[in-house]
Amino acid sequence: MIKGIKGVKDILPEDTPRWRFIEETARRWADRYGFTEIRIPIFEVTALFARSIGATTDIVEKEMYTFPDRDGTSLTLRPEGTAGTVRAFVEHNRAAHPLPQKYFYIGPMFRHERPQAGRLRQFHQFGVEYFGTQDARADVDVMALLWRFLSDLALPDLTLEINSLGSSGDRAAYLPVLVSFLKGRQEKLCDNCRRRIETNPLRVLDCKVPTCRAATDDAPQLTAYLSPDAKGHFDQVLSGLAALGIPSQLNPRLVRGLDYYCLTAFEITSSHLGAQNAVGAGGRYDGLVELLGGPPTPAVGFAAGLERIAMMLPEQSLPASTPSVYVASFGSEGGPAGVQLLDALRRAGVSAQSDYRANTLKAHLRQADRAHCRFAVFLGDDEVRSGSTVVRNMDTKAQETVSLPDLPRYFLTVIQGS
Ligand code: HAM
Repeated sequence: MIKGIKGVKDILPEDTPRWRFIEETARRWADRYGFTEIRIPIFEVTALFARSIGATTDIVEKEMYTFPDRDGTSLTLRPEGTAGTVRAFVEHNRAAHPLPQKYFYIGPMFRHERPQAGRLRQFHQFGVEYFGTQDARADVDVMALLWRFLSDLALPDLTLEINSLGSSGDRAAYLPVLVSFLKGRQEKLCDNCRRRIETNPLRVLDCKVPTCRAATDDAPQLTAYLSPDAKGHFDQVLSGLAALGIPSQLNPRLVRGLDYYCLTAFEITSSHLGAQNAVGAGGRYDGLVELLGGPPTPAVGFAAGLERIAMMLPEQSLPASTPSVYVASFGSEGGPAGVQLLDALRRAGVSAQSDYRANTLKAHLRQADRAHCRFAVFLGDDEVRSGSTVVRNMDTKAQETVSLPDLPRYFLTVIQGS
């Protein structure tokens, strides 16, 4: 037997209603904030991700699915959606169109991580990217969209953590101070962090190893090195969130695992998720469009992990499924009439089904129950001849006689009213 790949999951029919509901809710919220959908490719040239996410990040160093194309070009399955969206923005010269522009995407991403609950190798993101303004209200919009979307789904115990990574100039002033602090604590850091002092010192602040956390407890904080502009921006973001009643928590250790960020960085976590507790995350990336060959265009966005949302979604958040009708047909005339009735109901917009193997009333009713049909119609030779059928409400067991040609209209009315 050939099995699926570790960390790459099937989403089976019993789970897809949950997924569809999450995706539909995401689309609805994106629409309310004026984001329109972009569909970007699943794979791109490797250089796109290395350049935008950063050559020394975990994603690029260890987690990408990279393979040579037949002509030798190095290709990579997208580990996230920002790089591809920015590539498309630049390639199609979208900056020449009126700004701002707001895009969203939903789709699979690929990272070679150690699989565990909430961490997969193929996972799905709902992401938004807002191009063309550095106004702090855009940062607030993006965070509010994520917060309102997750709250609408009734996900429990959410916390919005926020930090400012300053401008590149602010970080240039801060990094030597951080590096010299870290060098003084080197022997207390894990191997990975010791290496990061040289390659990506900010990430040391984000290490989850308890000894590293303790050793960097009193590390100098980037927020103390913010320029007046960056500080002003951050203050506006914080007061903008407060004005909308969205609670946020300052987390000076929040540095994000992707290099393109500047100014605002944020994460929404939930204590219900265990070790992989980020439901969604994002921030501002004002330099990325230019880095990928476009005109200077500030931007801000987020991505949320749909597997983590699906794990946390309370059952009662799910809407009831649309009622379906079961056609129980028997006999030499009832059988063919049943097929015609199914066709008529479906064409009228009613979900209708039957089990062609069943030939007793009992077997039909068992199938109607299994398929969670709300109604069953009995259609034997007698009913075909008389032109009237019996409709059974599967919940209340109440029965009613309805004429055969009236059935599509009857069910449409009942279902629309339910
Ligand atoms: P990220 O923090 O790498 O950011 O991922 C965003 C979210 O994707 C995470 O908070 C998590 O919910 C989910 N996620 C990430 N990796 C996995 C995994 N292996 N398994 C399951 N879920 C996962 C980004 O991807 C940025 N592109 C976000 C962004 C958009 N920033 C600006 N615009």
